[in-house]
Amino acid sequence: MKVLMVCLGNICRSPLAQGILEKLVVDHNLDWEVDSAGTGAWHAGESPDNRGMAKARIEGIDISGQRARQFQKSDFDDFDLILAMDTSNFNNILSLATPGQETKVKMILNYAYPNENRAVPDPYYDGGFDNVYNLLLDACSKLVEKHS
Ligand code: 4NP
Repeated sequence: MKVLMVCLGNICRSPLAQGILEKLVVDHNLDWEVDSAGTGAWHAGESPDNRGMAKARIEGIDISGQRARQFQKSDFDDFDLILAMDTSNFNNILSLATPGQETKVKMILNYAYPNENRAVPDPYYDGGFDNVYNLLLDACSKLVEKHS
């Protein structure tokens, strides 16, 4: 399975989500590929936010090799599952979909809180990477349980 994590800037939430799921994939011996992207292009080419890299490192995950990129229409063909961090990301992704592609797009926290459409809070301005990490670990663990 190929999974794409999507947030706004691709420097805070989705790089952490990618790192967390990549670790779970290794731990569970799964043949999955994971990537991440942002709906915006402002940070394209940049490393993840230092605070997110630090939190990941504490948890034994190295996300420093990741580079931000913008979500593109071809991602609908390249991925089986496209996971949005909040409803704004979700709607922006859906606005690029052709009929039939919408079914690949889900709110990531619905794996932990079904049907609630909860958002992963954006830690860019206020911090809160510990909370973001815990939410994403919970959701990614349930995603792996569901599909493995
Ligand atoms: P992210 O956080 O979407 O989790 O990567 C943000 C990063 C950058 C900006 C907003 C959110 N920004 O406005 O530049």
